[in-house]
Amino acid sequence: MRTVYVNGEYLPENEAKVSIFDRGFLMADGVYEVTSVLDGKLIDFDGHAVRLSRSLDALDMASPVTKDELLAINRELVTLNDITDGMIYLQVTRGAPNDRDFAFPDPDETPSTIVLFTQDKPGLADNPVALKGIKVISIDDIRWGRRDIKTVQLLYPSMGKMMAKAAGADDAWMVEDGFVTEGTSNNAYIVKNGKIITRELSTDILHGITRAAVLRFAKESQMVVEERNFTIQEAQEADEAFITSASTFVMPVVEIDGEKIGKGTPGRVAPRLREIYLEESRKVAI
Ligand code: PDD
Repeated sequence: MRTVYVNGEYLPENEAKVSIFDRGFLMADGVYEVTSVLDGKLIDFDGHAVRLSRSLDALDMASPVTKDELLAINRELVTLNDITDGMIYLQVTRGAPNDRDFAFPDPDETPSTIVLFTQDKPGLADNPVALKGIKVISIDDIRWGRRDIKTVQLLYPSMGKMMAKAAGADDAWMVEDGFVTEGTSNNAYIVKNGKIITRELSTDILHGITRAAVLRFAKESQMVVEERNFTIQEAQEADEAFITSASTFVMPVVEIDGEKIGKGTPGRVAPRLREIYLEESRKVAI
């Protein structure tokens, strides 16, 4: 049984409890982070900690822990649960006032709730799916306008995954005003004539921590990166497509809405970026 962390305590997962009045539960008033663990070390902890602060600030929510405390909690959970490869899920909500009310509670009276748990995924970096790539479908992006805040409002992304599943695909790319925003839980890219194309950062998409690292490594490897919008049609006519996230790293996309990308197998750029990303991230994991 897993040991999880709830508001200062390490507990067996079946003893960890959060109030029914918690605003995360009632209002989706909470933010989260997913950090991967490889070889027992945290990948890009700093990036996730910085984005967490940004999400909390944007929602006027106080951080229940300092960055150093957060690192210590992450490490303790990795040790207690003997995680070699996997993920750590972190969620902070605006806490549990004693009733339901739309107005935010006074933070002095209602401390935020913090929960962390591990997900054991042996061989996470050797996922065989990366060798053959994934299929995606396109769906309308009907999410709210602050997608740069990593909130726990994941109903539409969950529905998107179900739509993909029903269509025999693995994931969905969301489209707004004719342009791809991002995947349900990842950032989206295409490659044309060796150039890596991905939507620029704005409130329309989550500022992926993996995205930042992959684009940095790509530039350091003399690859050309173009941050701009692209359509599903341009993606279908591209040489390659791929996604990035903390849990999939770099994952080739080989089909969009039933149209094969290139030859319908992973090309050269995405697998190379995956290799570089894993190698470089492992070097600086903590
Ligand atoms: N999802 N876009 C969305 C909508 C996401 O939910 C995520 C991450 C990303 C990629 O961000 P990062 O590289 O920092 O993981 C982009 C996580 C993995 C999840 O919800 O499980």
